[in-house]
Amino acid sequence: MPRQFFVGGNFKMNGTIKSITDIVHHLNSAPLDPKTEVIIAPPTLFLLLVREHLRKEIEVAAQNVFDRGNGAYTGEISAEQLRDSGVGWTLVGHSERRVVLGEGDEFIASKTKAALDGGLGVILCVGETLEQRESNQTISIVTSQLSAVASKITTTSWSKIVIAYEPVWAIGTGKVATSEQAQEVHKAIRGWLGEKIGEGVAEETRIIYGGSVSEKNCRELAGEGDIDGFLVGGASLKPAFVDIINARQ
Ligand code: G3H
Repeated sequence: MPRQFFVGGNFKMNGTIKSITDIVHHLNSAPLDPKTEVIIAPPTLFLLLVREHLRKEIEVAAQNVFDRGNGAYTGEISAEQLRDSGVGWTLVGHSERRVVLGEGDEFIASKTKAALDGGLGVILCVGETLEQRESNQTISIVTSQLSAVASKITTTSWSKIVIAYEPVWAIGTGKVATSEQAQEVHKAIRGWLGEKIGEGVAEETRIIYGGSVSEKNCRELAGEGDIDGFLVGGASLKPAFVDIINARQ
């Protein structure tokens, strides 16, 4: 079966009640490709607002989750609380959390496991820095980020994971990876899944691209065989997000 095209919008720490409500209204009235699975990840503060008003075909994701159940963890949020609020997905391992907050592979793997155990789908972000790319470490970095997760979860859990390849140097910079650069890494990730997890998982897992995706470059990227969608940052706050959702139309 072909992999369903998947587009996520990561609002990061942006928006007000007014601007987020406007985005929700825009998405509610926009013609969206019914073949594309769409998820948006507003800041935690707005999850309930978005879930209440957003059309039901669009899922809502948290941008982060803690790796433990409810308890004395000030400032954190659990998978159980997200589920209770109608939030079915979470991002894990975004490079802004890896780089700015210092989250390491082990912690990210542990959060992935907690999210899956708590019944959430996971958009698992991986990617290399410019320095790592320039020293030919892209594939080894990305596969070691994936290996940390693989060592903590079962083979069947991969059906609840979407892998987002996001080269750090392309995030928010306007410097998008070429479709050849992205396809090369996506293909390597699929190869790694086949070798380490299983051919079925490799065939079925969505691998999406993130990093300066726009309405201008999305169609070319979407034409590559191993690019199954996008994780969109800046452009997900704009009306052009709809064009990205409809990139395969
Ligand atoms: O999660 C989204 C990525 O960080 C991409 O962000 O589209 O603003 O480059 P961007």
